[in-house]
Amino acid sequence: MFEPVKIAPSILSADFMNLGRDVALIEEAGAGYVHVDVMDGHFVPNLTMGVPVVKQLKKTTSLPLDVHLMISNPLEQLPWFLDAGADSVTVHAEVLDADGLARAVACIHAAGAKAAVSLKPRTPAGVLAPVIADVDMVLVMSVEPGFSGQSYIEGSEDKVARVVAMAASVGASPLVQVDGGIGAATAPFVAAAGADVLVCGNAVFAADDPARALAEVAAAADEARLAALAAQKEA
Ligand code: DX5
Ligand code: ZN
Repeated sequence: MFEPVKIAPSILSADFMNLGRDVALIEEAGAGYVHVDVMDGHFVPNLTMGVPVVKQLKKTTSLPLDVHLMISNPLEQLPWFLDAGADSVTVHAEVLDADGLARAVACIHAAGAKAAVSLKPRTPAGVLAPVIADVDMVLVMSVEPGFSGQSYIEGSEDKVARVVAMAASVGASPLVQVDGGIGAATAPFVAAAGADVLVCGNAVFAADDPARALAEVAAAADEARLAALAAQKEA
């Protein structure tokens, strides 16, 4: 059945001096989530925002807060983000073994939030095997994490398709989110491959008209999704 994609604008590209205004703008424009990129200067070279920003966001928006933890020690710090009001928390598979991934997912679920696991571009989908049946979402990175405004790595849609197939093989259907270099030109690739949630930083916030840009990405993705569904039916 056709489900429209959801757009998760990344506030890393927003105007931090007018963050409330920018979040209200994307809420009004129909965003599905607010994507919060937390970077620790260790797992990734960049340093961004943390718990106080999540707390403030929680007070100002009714959109779900989708917190992407690009940090080396998520097991220690993810409870802070859950307490601050994160609605979904994404941890990176590269910093946790199978046991650590299972503990992270259990901790997130115990707080009543949605659990997601992310893969860097060179991390194979196979590392998801121990938790694929338990996660609510898988985040496929389509750039090396660390900075907004990078170009989509061609072929990332193949990993989206692998994750969808892997989940289906165990009877699971987590949402699949894609993050990095997504705009109206690249959204169709990942949407056709089965992506449900698209993170957009620059494509939305660097546009002259962010609301229109958001709608354009969503429309391009939905068109590709519908075409892929129609092609599946014919096959
Ligand atoms: C990259 C972050 C992304 C990024 C997206 O490490 O996880 O969420 O800010 O920005 P764009 O859409 O500009 O690539
Ligand atoms: Zn992100």
